[in-house]
Amino acid sequence: MATIDNSRGFTSNVGAILAAAGGAVGLGNIWRFPYMLGQNGGGAFLLVYVFFVLTIGVPLMMTEFIIGRRSQKNVVGAYKSLSPNHKGWIVLGVFGIVCAFLIYAFYSVVAGWTLNYIVLSCSSQLAGKEPEAITLLFQSFTESSFWPLFYQLLFLTLTGVVITMGVQKGIEKVSKILMPVLFFLLILMCVRSLTLGEGTKEGLNFLFKPDFSKLDGSSILAALGQSFFSLSIGMGAMVTYGSYIRKEDKLFNTSLWIAGCDSLVAILAGIVIFPAVFAFGMDPASGPELVYIVLPNVFNSMPAGGLFAVVFFVLLGIAALTSTISLLEILVAFAVEELHWKRSTASILCTAIVFLIGALCTLSFGPLKDATLFGKTIFDLFDLITASYLMPIGALFMTIFLGWCYPKVEVRDELSNGGVIKARAFELYYFVLRYLAPIALLFIIVSGIIN
Ligand code: TRP
Repeated sequence: MATIDNSRGFTSNVGAILAAAGGAVGLGNIWRFPYMLGQNGGGAFLLVYVFFVLTIGVPLMMTEFIIGRRSQKNVVGAYKSLSPNHKGWIVLGVFGIVCAFLIYAFYSVVAGWTLNYIVLSCSSQLAGKEPEAITLLFQSFTESSFWPLFYQLLFLTLTGVVITMGVQKGIEKVSKILMPVLFFLLILMCVRSLTLGEGTKEGLNFLFKPDFSKLDGSSILAALGQSFFSLSIGMGAMVTYGSYIRKEDKLFNTSLWIAGCDSLVAILAGIVIFPAVFAFGMDPASGPELVYIVLPNVFNSMPAGGLFAVVFFVLLGIAALTSTISLLEILVAFAVEELHWKRSTASILCTAIVFLIGALCTLSFGPLKDATLFGKTIFDLFDLITASYLMPIGALFMTIFLGWCYPKVEVRDELSNGGVIKARAFELYYFVLRYLAPIALLFIIVSGIIN
């Protein structure tokens, strides 16, 4: 398919950063990160997490951007065009597509929940409820069939509409509007949480004061898995977005900005959640329901809580939307470029397939609760398999591809924009790409399997 370079992708560097940061910032930051931190010992987890983001996350994101921008293709087309003599690498692209389906399937469940909670908070149905009633509300909602499926489909449809509008008029434009709104709402929530008085000190201590005795092998692994999931690396999301980044933009700086935004949002989400949790005597280690059960209680106990509940769930919905956009784009870019489908057809068909798989994830909280494997429900399996296994495995092969099977001069050429800019950190990056990242990834995968 003929693609004209400058009409293909993002129109500016800011647009690229906001779109990719939108893909990175999501439920992973505001829903998953706080409960992971809560369960894995607080401040020490944060430090390890930031360490992984900087040492492995940023280089891997650069790697995906290089593959995408070099090839100007979707995740399958990228490997096809960068290794014309070794067709086997296409498998890695197909692997990315499969991953995207799986992640999108379970992610859209929780994304749908945000819509339900926006409705509940707007109509004051959470206000004034006893803690037991709030727990019951969450359970009876997630265990039912119709409404969770309805909201999941609504969220998928919303995402499909944006994707149908295209890269510039859909993804970039929506990200440019929603990301600043997201930051604004998040800062508003921080101010509220920090002015509650009592829990502030305790909450901030929990978040920022590392107690390394609380750290063990599994929490270090959890921090690494979280950094992959949060940065959306390891399965080609950033290959697709990389193909839309202008040739004159600096990939290193762009990656740093995105990783910076992503970590900042995670930390701000922690500042919103933990002081409030401590102020009202809740348990920071309560798990996935932290946001949906613990926070509504917190909102009920704070002045103007009803309003802040609305703000919070809208914020969560926005974060989820810019991420589902990035997930669907992986699939649609593939279908448009490789299968030559029309963009609108691709959006509709991919959404339909995801809904079919995703419905199983939704129903695994209710009617399919007992359909388990190794004691895990379908939803948990999808989450575990992708974040802990498939993404690290995908990342490992990606580093092998770019570090060992693709010419070094070409990598340098892409990173230095054809020699126009000095890629000062190139040798360091290349070292991480060839040695540090693969070894670290191998270690994670093996210890994950042993666990
Ligand atoms: N990073 C997103 C989050 O933190 C989730 C996400 C979006 C994702 N696209 C992805 C994860 C691609 C893995 C791969 O919520």
